[in-house]
Amino acid sequence: MTPQSDALVFFGATGDLAYKDIFPALQGMIRHGHLDIPVIGVAKSGWNLEQFRARAKDSLEKHGGVDTQAFAKLLGQLSYIDADYNDPQTYRLIRKALGNAVRPLHYLAIPPSLFATVAGGLAKVGAADNARVVVEKPFGRDLESARKLNETLAEYFPESAIFRIDHYLGKEPVQNLLYFRFANSLLEPLWNRNYVRAIQITMAEQFGVGTRGRLYEELGAIRDVVQNHLLQVSALLAMDPPVANDSEAMRDEKSRILKAMRPLEPTEVVRGQYRGYRKEDGVAAASQVETFAALRLHIDSWRWSGVPFYIRAGKCLPVSSTEVLVELRQPPKIIFDHCTDLPACNYFKFQLSPNVLISLGARAKLAGEAMTGEAVELIAKHQAKDEMTAYERLLGDAMRGDPALFAREDSVEESWRVVGPALDNAAPVHEYAQGEWGPGEADALIQPDGGWHNPGKSAG
Ligand code: BG6
Repeated sequence: MTPQSDALVFFGATGDLAYKDIFPALQGMIRHGHLDIPVIGVAKSGWNLEQFRARAKDSLEKHGGVDTQAFAKLLGQLSYIDADYNDPQTYRLIRKALGNAVRPLHYLAIPPSLFATVAGGLAKVGAADNARVVVEKPFGRDLESARKLNETLAEYFPESAIFRIDHYLGKEPVQNLLYFRFANSLLEPLWNRNYVRAIQITMAEQFGVGTRGRLYEELGAIRDVVQNHLLQVSALLAMDPPVANDSEAMRDEKSRILKAMRPLEPTEVVRGQYRGYRKEDGVAAASQVETFAALRLHIDSWRWSGVPFYIRAGKCLPVSSTEVLVELRQPPKIIFDHCTDLPACNYFKFQLSPNVLISLGARAKLAGEAMTGEAVELIAKHQAKDEMTAYERLLGDAMRGDPALFAREDSVEESWRVVGPALDNAAPVHEYAQGEWGPGEADALIQPDGGWHNPGKSAG
């Protein structure tokens, strides 16, 4: 057991991520008895502690609700430092606020360009000793910058103290992909090129970039969610069973499957931009940044050779839903009619959000004399009460020093290697209307394999 962190220093405390995810996670941790240490918010907003507390309350009112008891406790643990990251005085104030804490966890919810400054500032006042650091995704902008970032962090923190967050890995249904695969004997014999025809992963969001226009201009869909969330989901779907149930064995297998992924071919990538994106706040009038990406990924492994992985993500699509569809090969068409309308049957579907469900698409006989059938779905739903949010789970893990659900340096670099050829306008960007499933070119990409399966409005 590694020792528990004894303070949480939280950089970027007045930002969007804090508002949407971190305050709810902190309140959740208190409610579950997992947070009993000082929480020091740091940001440059010209605020005082009262304003910071008001922001925390507002965040909880909008995201999940205020739990009076837990929130009162959180207020008692919160302090706030309004300061410039470039000013050495900031770090002296942090050291002072840490008091007797000797193993702080520093959470960097700030732009990566500031990581070196902050890490260096912390080190100078001794606040990096025995500390852990959590960094937000995306880790770098490409392979080269990710390597540089690793080198920078490695100057101040050992790899075992660096926690690269990808909140998808903290989601219950994402963890369940791995669990369901290896806890049941049903799937594993089928889970290979002999039985699987194609895999589709769709991450659809109904909303646009909102207030994140300026940030999003630096990212685009491939950097924002494909390089991290969706390649991690692909890795969980495709990896071999780990040799042991420990974090390094898990991360070894994940890294191995990422290594087997072929770099994307720009001709197998479709980029889209929703109409109106260029008018969003902070977005360039002639922006070429993609708000939608669809791609065909190949995994050159014994298990997956020849099985296309289609990945699609976009904003302003018809629904908000994330779904994985594993299409099985059809049985020979000798005796019964079968499904012609792919993928209406013969599949496993994992809906990761908004509902959590697993379904098996099959065919069953219709009553009557003829041996004809219809498509049916066998559905398992999962609804847990008071589930931890992904951020709550991951922050708790980082405080305990458990790296299992964090991306290791090698897998982050492999992911950048895979998406590298598709970055920076490698493929043209096509406009699509808001509320549509991306540009028509995305349909053409998957056409040889039967078309996209679009998650439904009220799936589940
Ligand atoms: C974030 C992306 O990592 O994930 C956002 O930056 C995206 O663009 C978000 O909207 C989706 O995560 P969730 O958990 O809200 O589905």
